[in-house]
Amino acid sequence: MAKGFYISKKMGLAGLLMGTGAVVTIIALAAVYHKEKTKNQEKLVDGAAMLTTASPTPATPSTPKDPWDHYRLPDSLSPVSYNITLWPRLVVNASTGLYVFTGQSAVVFQCKKDTDLILIHSNKLNLTLLNGHHARLTGLDGSTAPTIKKSWLQVPTQFLVIQLDSNLMVGKQYELYTDFIGELADDLEGFYRSEYTEDGVKKVVATSQMQATYARKAFPCFDEPAMKAVFHITLIHHRGTAALSNGRDVETVNTTIDGTEVTMTRFEPTKRMSTYLLAVIVSDFAHITGSIENNNVLVRIWGRKKAIAEGHGDYALSVTGPMLKFYERYYNASYPLSKSDQIALPDFNAGAMENWGLITYRETALLYDPAVSSVGNKERVTTVVAHELAHMWFGNLVTLRWWNDLWLNEGFASYVEYLGADYAEPTWNIKEQIILDDVHKVFAVDALASSHPLSRKEEEVNRPAEISEMFNTISYSKGAAVLRMLF
Ligand SMILES: *[C@@H]1O[C@H](CO)[C@@H](O)[C@H](O)[C@H]1NC(C)=O
Ligand SMILES: *[C@@H]1O[C@H](CO)[C@@H](O)[C@H](O)[C@H]1NC(C)=O
Ligand SMILES: *[C@@H]1O[C@H](CO)[C@@H](O)[C@H](O)[C@H]1NC(C)=O
Ligand SMILES: *[C@@H]1O[C@H](CO)[C@@H](O)[C@H](O)[C@H]1NC(C)=O
Ligand SMILES: *[C@@H]1O[C@H](CO)[C@@H](O)[C@H](O)[C@H]1NC(C)=O
Ligand SMILES: [Zn+2]
Repeated sequence: MAKGFYISKKMGLAGLLMGTGAVVTIIALAAVYHKEKTKNQEKLVDGAAMLTTASPTPATPSTPKDPWDHYRLPDSLSPVSYNITLWPRLVVNASTGLYVFTGQSAVVFQCKKDTDLILIHSNKLNLTLLNGHHARLTGLDGSTAPTIKKSWLQVPTQFLVIQLDSNLMVGKQYELYTDFIGELADDLEGFYRSEYTEDGVKKVVATSQMQATYARKAFPCFDEPAMKAVFHITLIHHRGTAALSNGRDVETVNTTIDGTEVTMTRFEPTKRMSTYLLAVIVSDFAHITGSIENNNVLVRIWGRKKAIAEGHGDYALSVTGPMLKFYERYYNASYPLSKSDQIALPDFNAGAMENWGLITYRETALLYDPAVSSVGNKERVTTVVAHELAHMWFGNLVTLRWWNDLWLNEGFASYVEYLGADYAEPTWNIKEQIILDDVHKVFAVDALASSHPLSRKEEEVNRPAEISEMFNTISYSKGAAVLRMLF
């Protein structure tokens, strides 16, 4: 006989209760799970559903969204030029504990289609109210601007929205003026601050990273690559500091504003270009100067005073002139600008950024010290400089309409950088390196289930986060590998 198994009545009752409780819990959890699953499915098809998840019933489908709820700009307005003044404060405000910059911007735009709405990007800027509104609108060429009915900041889509009381006239130009203050944060985005210590003294640099969607954090703008315009930039800065932007400086005036002694540096107007290529920097950096052979383009390398004094910028300067010369022949087009500045920053997010005429780098991608750097370090400087200089034509002069085709811009520069580097260092056989550094590298990524096609549909890339996702190994290295097969 097998051993029996007995339980008391009390134990049996308790067990029954516990069992019932468990079943009820399971049913309740299943119901919650089903509800959550339904909600998540809504999220996948329509981003706006995320804001209304409190309701258990599905939102009524396809109610048309307001224009300011779309991430893309409408095609009713087109920018012509900007006139921007920026003043970064390189000392912390003792009462607020913040580093800030102040600015004024006047953007001239043309009306292309009837509209009573102005949508312009603006993110994390505090706009001064002018007559109760966030901006002031003026008509140009004798036209009268409609009055502003209402203005507000649409935070999720990063827009300043201006509702007018009547339509703008097609073909006419208008000027929108804004006055603002922003934080000069150490967040590597927009107009930001970089800090370092030299001879035991903490130093602050005001610098910028606009790509892909951070120009709107420095000044209100039509922040899409196809919305090209001419930029007139003025920087206000402490006496004795150097101010840099995309163009050459054309006027420097010492003046006093609100009791502070400052210098105002005005730059030549840029070529028509995208907002993401703009750059503004204030520092006490030093520089060395060179040129392109038989050409009066000004070529400079900037960096911390000590690094420049110790010759760490010399190698980059020595390869820049020859590479620019090479690309002029390769593209059959002269270098488009009057100067080429390259600057090494202590705090920088990407490896480097191809701002037109003022390329920014991590220190390790531009500075080279023959006493301590490895051959690998030198190779990195050569290829990154070659990559960024290649963009001065491909990407900057000729630009993608939208970020879904980023692979063409980055894949091309990632391929052509080997040609530029090979011209500067013909004994290295650097062109063979693409097999290891791009082709094989991307094989590993492309073999994953998470891989994706080179190009995406335009309507699939909208939010800033979706744009950031395009900057990946597939765009750069697979792009380079595919283009290499074609050339
Ligand atoms: C830019 O604005 C400043 C100050 O408002 C003005 O003096 C200057 O003439 C403007 N420049 C252009 C090119 O519009
Ligand atoms: C510090 O910030 C306050 C508030 O924005 C401002 O009123 C004050 O002028 C600032 N101080 C300096 C020295 O800029
Ligand atoms: C912008 O305004 C907000 C709210 O008043 C304030 O907390 C923030 O410090 C301001 N930013 C700057 C840079 O002044
Ligand atoms: C402005 O002031 C700085 C520092 O005091 C001086 O070095 C510079 O020559 C002055 N520039 C002009 C245009 O007066
Ligand atoms: C472009 O090619 C033509 C014809 O070969 C040549 O004459 C011209 O100098 C080239 N231009 C540049 C900027 O290289
Ligand atoms: Zn690039």
